[in-house]
Amino acid sequence: MRQKIVAGNWKMNTTLSEGIKLAQEVESLVSGVNNGAKVILCTPFVHLTEVKKVIKKALLGAQNCASEISGAYTGEVSAAMVKSTGAEYVIIGHSERRAYYHEDDALLYKKVQLALANGLTPIFCIGELLSEREANKHFDVVKSQLEKGLFSLSEGDFKKIVLAYEPVWAIGTGKTATSAQAQEIHKFIRDTVAAKYGKTVADDLSILYGGSCKASNAKELFANPDVDGGLIGGAALVAADFLGIVTGF
Ligand code: PGA
Repeated sequence: MRQKIVAGNWKMNTTLSEGIKLAQEVESLVSGVNNGAKVILCTPFVHLTEVKKVIKKALLGAQNCASEISGAYTGEVSAAMVKSTGAEYVIIGHSERRAYYHEDDALLYKKVQLALANGLTPIFCIGELLSEREANKHFDVVKSQLEKGLFSLSEGDFKKIVLAYEPVWAIGTGKTATSAQAQEIHKFIRDTVAAKYGKTVADDLSILYGGSCKASNAKELFANPDVDGGLIGGAALVAADFLGIVTGF
């Protein structure tokens, strides 16, 4: 059975005290949930150490890490630094990083390698723009993102990855992919992974859906055989809303 996961991506929201409070609220709500799903809180960098102190059931992740090991890279946070806070996960390749900070496939592959070298699990994001979907290019786009961002990994390393499919047109827009659209492309992603690394690796891979996932649509999305959970933005900022997604399996 592949791992079910709900990861909250807080993005650039909450001050430190607000973040600690949110983490405490989430922890107290999810501590009673026993459906086998892993719950991950991907907080801003400056919250990691303090949030780690108030969570137990929930696991900790960052939203990014540097593409270099260490040194004169003002403002950057390395994978080793992230790991040293107690974080176990790191989001890599979020569409906002790709779009606003011009992170390309080659750079993301470097980040993935450093995350893995430091014992972090990358939550690697892929997904197409609205124009690409309208041009029916979404399958080609995610295939290329997989090939360039991940497929140079050894099988052993690839097995440590969590994938998140996030159609850019659904992120923060309130527009969710339909359950059928999500299943269709998640299956395509799994088949693409199977062609590269074999069926067993593909069957064990957790593929999360992200993009306006909320309590009201999580159940339907997660009921799909190839949707293994969600990467949650806006709805991760209110503990009760997030709980409604965690219990969506
Ligand atoms: P959203 O964001 O849930 O607010 O659409 C998801 C994400 O960007 O990870």
